[in-house]
Amino acid sequence: MLGEQNLDHDGAPAEPRHPPVIDKPVLIAEPLLPDLKDLIPLLEGIWERKYVTNHGPLHEQLEAALADHLGVKTAMLFNNATIGLIAALKLFDLPPGSEVITTPMTFAATAHAISWNGLTPVFADILPGTMTLDPAAVEKAITSRTSAILGVHVYGTLCDVDAFARIGASRDIRIIYDAAHAFGATRSGVPVSQFGDASIFSFHATKLFNTLEGGLVATPRESDRKKIYYLRNFGIKNEEEVVEIGINGKMNEVQAAIGLLNLRLVAAEKAKRRRLRNRYIEILGDLDGIQLPAEQPEVENSEQYFPIVIDETRFGRTRDQIYDALKARKVFSRKYFYPICTDFEPYRHLKIVSTRAIPYAEEVKMRVLCLPFHSNVSEDAVSVIHDVMHARP
Ligand SMILES: Cc1ncc(COP(=O)(O)O)c(C=O)c1O
Repeated sequence: MLGEQNLDHDGAPAEPRHPPVIDKPVLIAEPLLPDLKDLIPLLEGIWERKYVTNHGPLHEQLEAALADHLGVKTAMLFNNATIGLIAALKLFDLPPGSEVITTPMTFAATAHAISWNGLTPVFADILPGTMTLDPAAVEKAITSRTSAILGVHVYGTLCDVDAFARIGASRDIRIIYDAAHAFGATRSGVPVSQFGDASIFSFHATKLFNTLEGGLVATPRESDRKKIYYLRNFGIKNEEEVVEIGINGKMNEVQAAIGLLNLRLVAAEKAKRRRLRNRYIEILGDLDGIQLPAEQPEVENSEQYFPIVIDETRFGRTRDQIYDALKARKVFSRKYFYPICTDFEPYRHLKIVSTRAIPYAEEVKMRVLCLPFHSNVSEDAVSVIHDVMHARP
């Protein structure tokens, strides 16, 4: 909500206009961008040094700042989270062809990273409520070929990290988290990156903290640094030695400059999104057939997405009808995640392992809708969403 232009002098949201007016399309996300005047001196420094990539000084500064911010021993920047995921899976030398259990309710990159490593994705069902991997379905999917579980803290909602820690400890299975949506989330004060063997964050422009494109691999062990460094930089040890099958995962200095400036803006953006979250709960909370985002009382939310689940039998209208009605009024929600990974050509032949007759992921993919979620969602846009959701069919 509540972009600066929609705040009155004491910071309270301005009253919506009647009828509410949407001058400019309201999108699901808007990149958080620093003030150009703050960026220019950093760009001048880069130009002067002519040190534009390959672990330059701003890169090093950002990496250290993020290790501190995320409270993690090893934090290594990448050029995007997809390459970060690919590198993180490679870190553990999982046996070729072995199975990695993951969720179908995610962006394609999660599954692709498994396939790019020559590993076999196995899809397990998700839990109603959190929409994260269901530990019982995961247990059912484990075979003698399982080498890892790749959970996704989808929308910023945390996986059942305790259940997966138990599963990982009882067998020789790595627990890796796609934390693309979970930047800065904590549970009982413990940073999300402390759970599992590795966590991968995305700094894509759609993410709350962004470097335009970017990502980060975090692990709880200092000893991983060297290998991740090689994986990120072609495996180059020195001018004459290449010691790993690495990739080019380096973030450049311009991206790092944006990151350093955006890091200062994250707290304020998060606070505004928290207010928007509360506004959405206020206007949708009393609607029959609308499930609001899962409450995880001990979790500090990353404020990445606001997903609702629309049960058309109780609500009277379908998710797609709501999506269309909002779009007709220039409010663009997104059907994250529909289609799900098992609907995509490369994975269509794979069944979702579930404890139910029909996987919950198959049901909820038709019902889930993410509302616009960033600090420039105006009170007028909130009014439009209110009107569309409260209109009688
Ligand atoms: C769950 C999830 N994983 C991975 C990615 C890939 O991130 P990137 O675009 O930084 O490669 C995304 C991107 O949005 C995502 O949503």
